[in-house]
Amino acid sequence: MAIVSSGGISAEKVAQAAEKVGTPLYLYDEATITQACRRVLAMPHADGLCVRYAMKANPSRALLELVTRQGLGLDAGSVNEARRARLAGIACDRMTLTTQDVPAGDDRRDLEAMIRQGLVYTACSERQLELIADFAREHGVRLALRVNPGMGAGESVTRNTGDKYSSFGVHLANLERVTAYARDRGLVIDQVHVHIGSGGDPALWRENVDRMLEIVQERFPQAQTLNLGGGFKVARMPDEQAADIEALGAYARGRFEAFRARTGRKLQMAIEPGTYIVANAGYLVTRVLDRKWSGPDGFEFVVLDGGMEANTRPLLYGSRHPFHVVSHAGELLSSEFNLNDSKVELDFRVVVGRCCESGDSQSLDHHGHIIPRMMAAPEIGDYVVIGGAGAYCSAMSLSNYNSYLQAPEVLLRTDGTLETIRTRQRLEQITANELALGG
Ligand code: LLP
Repeated sequence: MAIVSSGGISAEKVAQAAEKVGTPLYLYDEATITQACRRVLAMPHADGLCVRYAMKANPSRALLELVTRQGLGLDAGSVNEARRARLAGIACDRMTLTTQDVPAGDDRRDLEAMIRQGLVYTACSERQLELIADFAREHGVRLALRVNPGMGAGESVTRNTGDKYSSFGVHLANLERVTAYARDRGLVIDQVHVHIGSGGDPALWRENVDRMLEIVQERFPQAQTLNLGGGFKVARMPDEQAADIEALGAYARGRFEAFRARTGRKLQMAIEPGTYIVANAGYLVTRVLDRKWSGPDGFEFVVLDGGMEANTRPLLYGSRHPFHVVSHAGELLSSEFNLNDSKVELDFRVVVGRCCESGDSQSLDHHGHIIPRMMAAPEIGDYVVIGGAGAYCSAMSLSNYNSYLQAPEVLLRTDGTLETIRTRQRLEQITANELALGG
């Protein structure tokens, strides 16, 4: 039986993957990733569309291979991410680098080599632009510039990256000076970049398209591409509403066409989604270690072998991820996607991890308060599968808090096989860089 209606992960596959590599593990579904890639590539547009996967969402090598084979490029969030992509065999001319970091030393040397091989560097601040100016002019390199448009749209304030509360990009107050600098130094700003936040209101995404087209018209006469960033909302929970990519594309197409009509300029649209590509293709598969009850006015706790160290999102943002309870024999006992179909008795329970922190719960609101959730009563040894875990879970895992090991990753291929794409970390890898006192 499928755990969710879309995608091929079934309760049986969960048990097989857990048998194969042990728990906790991240389990990804190739078919869901491929479908998401196809949906974004089919987004309506006026004068060209370029899609790059924001690899910070999940930089696992096999996933980079999958999405690039589907035709997506990559946006790296650091020089190291770009290096990882290169190690996965992905050519620099399929990548952009968009970072708050100011690469120096070896990073800088490597960055220059990658730019010469076609990587597009997005200057995200005045200082970044100044530091790359001589190199860019000398080598005739075209640059991208990230703009902070003064409006943000995040699912929470901590994921809003587009207004005065956030440091990302060149703010409007400085844009005239920075573009004048670029012009005077003979720099070519070929791409204008903006990313106003993750999981925000689609109405604000539309508003931002209008705002950015005006900015491009006014300040960027040489721009050939407007990169609108990522941020498309997905529905992790049954009561959530995903962004309608097709409707957003149709809106953007109309606005880019209007831009062409009034300026005579054709502008390519670029996007760089992360969450939208992988979030709902991933599951954190955990095993039930213990159960506790805190009394008549209290809660029933289900203690898992994976929690905040493997998925920080509930604690960071109060994000909700759906729970599926699977028996150790591989039978689905309950799923938040179809609680009515459950054959066993359900009750409200609180899912916690095994770190020594009371915030180590997967059932929290954004104030950190516990919110019990309806689910079957698992037995010790059963699985609790946490959905919506393909983006920013493995990538943002807490490295080795309480010395727990980084979990392995398994990919369900479209032919039904389970392929290990990352093995479990070993204790020696945690301690490898430590030096004995006085040694
Ligand atoms: N482009 C840039 C420059 C970004 O900084 C990001 C995300 C993206 C694209 C992709 O955004 P997405 O499509 O994934 O929303 N950790 C948070 C989200 C913060 C992402 C930061 N930047 C989360 O777990 O929801």
